Amino acid sequence: MVYLLSILVLGGLLAGLAVLLSVAESYLLDYGICTIDINSGERPIQVEGGQTLLSSLYSNQIFIPSACGGKGSCGHCKITVTSGGGPVLPTERPYLSRLEVRSNVRLACQVKVRQDIYVRIPEEFLNIKLFSATVESARELTYDIKEIRLRLKEPAEISYLPGQYVQVEAPSPDGPVFRAYSISSASAEPSVVELVVRLVPGGIASTYLHNLSVGDEVTFTGPYGEFRLSEDPSVELVCVGGGCGMAPIRNIIYSLYEKWPERSCWFFFGVRTRSDIFYLEQFKQLQRQFPDFQVVYALSEAHGDKQWDGETGFIHLAVDKYLEPGPRRQAFLCGPPLMIKAVTTVLREKGVDPEDIFYDEF
Ligand code: FES
Repeated sequence: MVYLLSILVLGGLLAGLAVLLSVAESYLLDYGICTIDINSGERPIQVEGGQTLLSSLYSNQIFIPSACGGKGSCGHCKITVTSGGGPVLPTERPYLSRLEVRSNVRLACQVKVRQDIYVRIPEEFLNIKLFSATVESARELTYDIKEIRLRLKEPAEISYLPGQYVQVEAPSPDGPVFRAYSISSASAEPSVVELVVRLVPGGIASTYLHNLSVGDEVTFTGPYGEFRLSEDPSVELVCVGGGCGMAPIRNIIYSLYEKWPERSCWFFFGVRTRSDIFYLEQFKQLQRQFPDFQVVYALSEAHGDKQWDGETGFIHLAVDKYLEPGPRRQAFLCGPPLMIKAVTTVLREKGVDPEDIFYDEF
């Protein structure tokens, strides 16, 4: 007990010291104006030294992916720092592979700009924009999930690929936070972005989004994300989701049939009970319209629910039951890590190439 207390006290002291040092640094040390050289002179910018690379870039309208708001806990903000970034910090190590460390990949939220710094930023990040929008509708899909439809104001249109996401800015007592939400729109309207948001108890961004009313203003950056739908018409698409994993999948499936009505696609969606079901009727309608589209919902906690005549059990069991080994497939999975792991195992048994399995864990 004494040992545990000492560890807690020591941990608290160290954390406090780190905060103090950081505050002291920002007040006492003046690094002056530093240059961030982006892609070998393509777009140099001047910034006040002492800030993180992530926030320095953000204030110059360069938006690097970040799902944790710069806290160093998501590992999304990776960019290459070729010079001037100092040594790799212990806070970065858990998110960087050995190869990434050797290739000068860093977490932009952990690197401080203390001198001129040279970075390489992928072109798609440089195309990410800041958008303002108004809430056009907000409707409940289940007891804890809402669909929020945003009409863009400035810029008035967004160009994105199926499966991409945006980062919504939400106010908090400690300043704005940014959280990633997949674009869930079912049609390719460039002036609209729809989100599917589950209310997380105590969650800053989900509480903010759930409390929005029609006409409220929302700010977000985007689009982000690397998933690319195969353009090969012979490739069958398999989408597997759970809960809010619906969001990117809805956008991917509707985009697929808008462009390729003949494409073959399976959609497996796992929820706990009937009260967690949403969009099922929409997908059944899509199935009637496009015979090569198949939708399967499964309840993991049906508990003898007499009104449910569909699949029961975890969703990977339904994937195993319905999917025959067959054509080349591209799979997109979105849901909790255990679901992704179980479904990946099944897909590999069915002969899906690991390189064709994409996933988004949450
Ligand atoms: S922004 Fe999340 S780890 Fe850097």
